[in-house]
Amino acid sequence: MLNPRLDLLTDYPFQRLANLLEGPAGDAPLVMSIGEPQHQPPAFVAEILAREAAGWGKYPPMGGTPAFRAAVAAWLNRRFRLAPGLIDADRNILPLAGTREGLFQIAQLVADGKQRTGPDGAPPVVLLPNPFYQVYAGAALLAGAEPVFVPAVQEGGFLPDFAAVAEPLLQRTVLAYLCNPGNPQGAVAPAASLGVCLALARRYGFVLAVDECYSEIYDAEPPPSALEVCAAEDDGLANLVVFHSLSKRSSAPGLRSGFVAGDDRLIGAFSRFRSYGGAAVPLPILAASTALWQDETHVEASRALYRAKFDLADAILGHVPGYYRPAGGFFLWLAVADGEQAARRLWREAGIRVLPGAYLARPGADGANPGASYIRIALVHDLATTRRALTRIAEVLSGREVAA
Ligand SMILES: Cc1ncc(COP(=O)(O)O)c(C=O)c1O
Repeated sequence: MLNPRLDLLTDYPFQRLANLLEGPAGDAPLVMSIGEPQHQPPAFVAEILAREAAGWGKYPPMGGTPAFRAAVAAWLNRRFRLAPGLIDADRNILPLAGTREGLFQIAQLVADGKQRTGPDGAPPVVLLPNPFYQVYAGAALLAGAEPVFVPAVQEGGFLPDFAAVAEPLLQRTVLAYLCNPGNPQGAVAPAASLGVCLALARRYGFVLAVDECYSEIYDAEPPPSALEVCAAEDDGLANLVVFHSLSKRSSAPGLRSGFVAGDDRLIGAFSRFRSYGGAAVPLPILAASTALWQDETHVEASRALYRAKFDLADAILGHVPGYYRPAGGFFLWLAVADGEQAARRLWREAGIRVLPGAYLARPGADGANPGASYIRIALVHDLATTRRALTRIAEVLSGREVAA
């Protein structure tokens, strides 16, 4: 009765965590396992939603409103200093009801389960970093493709090296996911490596999908967008799509608002695909989103708060071997001896939920899971809560639990 490919999916990490942490926790449990920002979105979001309430009574256009697309194009040009004429608001931008669905759908868009089969009938390949945002692998598997997990480990600066993938796999590749800044490691790929990835995509004829939803949460330097390595002339945006979201940038995960931008052939196909199976973003949400993309004040305030939390982490956990301050995103990716064991202890002894790194990765060619000796801690709470939590984490992890 069911699609047999569903059996290829592992349980989602939060379900696995719920199974692992059965039983009572210490007092006042605190969730640091989920990347759900608890900063306040600007008050104007609620005001605009109320003002635009008549829009709930209308089917929204799949392509959004001209005002939304113009605000997004202006933001992209301003933030990433794009080549003039690179982005056409009407041809290169499509709203999404959060980026998760777009990241999932891009695999359905490019892999039909039969393309690019090798001489032995091997399926098309989707490249993804390991560890990774779980939607990438689910999307690849449900599209009938073979996910190829490319290590994104400490030795490589936590960045995947797609150029090192074996030639026969590259020839079968239809799609590569890149997360920049990366979840969970917070590594930022420089523009030069984004250029290498895009050149590879064009050489082998695959789509490069760059998930940039953490691009506005950074420490020192603003992370580049893959759009920056495209020139208006030559190949323009060919083979490239990037994904942006208001969930992290504007602390509005419940708004379900993001967009995909890039190659007009892909955006056009996306639009056709989504007119059958996508959720169009409602008009009041488009209006609030337009105002959010036009405003940087709230983004700067939120970024400053994340920086202050990483300052706390430096002070409280800086002495822990393996601790590092990530260049982007809001996660600590902390080396411990055994991630599952550390998560269990933090839950039992401190009532703090963190995610074992193994749940965000798959075993590599050597059979080892590159996330197994890590925990992911989401610094999404207010300063006082974060200080208390990090202090408890340092206490619980002190001594033998922390990797040497
Ligand atoms: C790496 C990454 N990409 C995409 C998303 C999806 O975000 P949204 O669907 O809220 O835009 C998340 C959310 O946690 C994420 O961590």
